Amino acid sequence: MSQTAAAPTKSRGLEGVTALDTELSFIDGTVGELIYRGYDIRDLAKNASFEEVAYLLWKGELPTQAQLDDLEAQLRAARPVHDDLLDHLRHHTPNDANPMAAMRTALSMLAAYDDEADDPDPEANYRKAIRLTAKLPTLVAAFDRIRKGKDPIAPKQEGSTAHDFLYMLNGEAPGPAAEAIMDAALVLHAEHGLNASTFACRVIGSTMSDMYSAVVGAMGALKGPLHGGANIEVMKTLLELDESGETAQQFVDRKLEAKEKIMGIGHRVYKTLDPRATILRAMLSDLSEEKGETKWLEMSDTIRETVLERKGLDANVDFYSASVYYLLGIETDLYTPIFAISRMTGWTAHLLEQWTDNRLIRPRAEYVGPKGKTVAPIADRG
Ligand code: COA
Repeated sequence: MSQTAAAPTKSRGLEGVTALDTELSFIDGTVGELIYRGYDIRDLAKNASFEEVAYLLWKGELPTQAQLDDLEAQLRAARPVHDDLLDHLRHHTPNDANPMAAMRTALSMLAAYDDEADDPDPEANYRKAIRLTAKLPTLVAAFDRIRKGKDPIAPKQEGSTAHDFLYMLNGEAPGPAAEAIMDAALVLHAEHGLNASTFACRVIGSTMSDMYSAVVGAMGALKGPLHGGANIEVMKTLLELDESGETAQQFVDRKLEAKEKIMGIGHRVYKTLDPRATILRAMLSDLSEEKGETKWLEMSDTIRETVLERKGLDANVDFYSASVYYLLGIETDLYTPIFAISRMTGWTAHLLEQWTDNRLIRPRAEYVGPKGKTVAPIADRG
């Protein structure tokens, strides 16, 4: 069938384009408001666990105690991963592999071990969402231990996602403060409208491909430094500044002069401070005081204030999360995989939503190349 003749609207980077309806989250970029299914992110970060938020995103309402108990039991039961996956990380993944690349491959492999991988039934898809959310923390922790020459630690299958993840990563149970911070960070990163990785996820889902294919694509999008990869770049910047002695102001001026981006700053939707950054800054402030290490907070604040003053751009979610994870003792290159652990709930919730009323997502490109050329014999070209 030929394409419609009407000139399509065009927007570079799809800015300002509304591609679909969602009941999952609402962002007001002018006032800095983020809502998951009706609940303000500040309320959720303070009063709901990551598992409650996962349920909210998947099912539409916060769970009752019985529903939460049931979901937590399913998540715990699904945390172990097949030995073949651990062997792949042990023997077929270089220790210096980018963790996002290693996890992208591991997620793809998971499909081969899931009998329901290609089952499009909504209940089967919900079960896959649970399995993916349960297994990614196990894979991230296993990869980190293996690359350090240590044995992976099997999930305890007790407690929260945050608790078991930190336990598998460090080999010891986290204290309540560390667990609470990780849990809140997971709540804050779970869902964010039609961001690049979620859009990629829904595009793949809209072809009626399977959930694994869609989240593997989303992992690829999240990895980029303009999206989830920014938290790693933020920490690299802070560490470099600490080492070089360049002041935060000098750094900002140098970057702006060179027309280079400052990571963790700016956002396509927020034109003010990202509300998640406000919460993460408060968490960083508490953690800095507890650890007696305030330099990361101070450097971050100066960078933020300087870019705000010079360019009117404010911090996004990745800006303060970097230092929070750093003070928790987490390797810098695991920050984006941790983002993915959380966002897995949002990605899969979007897929469940997409498939309730699917239509292929297929925009158009405007052709700006030449027309009317004819093929010359190869000997005559050049
Ligand atoms: N540092 C310096 N300048 C920035 C900037 C940043 N982080 N983000 C945007 N700008 C500037 C651009 O240089 C441009 O300035 P100009 O008009 O003077 O040329 C203007 O703001 C618009 O930038 P643009 O890249 O077109 O905006 P966008 O909506 O496409 O970009 C981001 C959104 C998030 C990709 C962008 O802000 C960015 O790259 N931020 C850093 C990466 C990051 O933290 N990503 C995580 C997002 S949660």
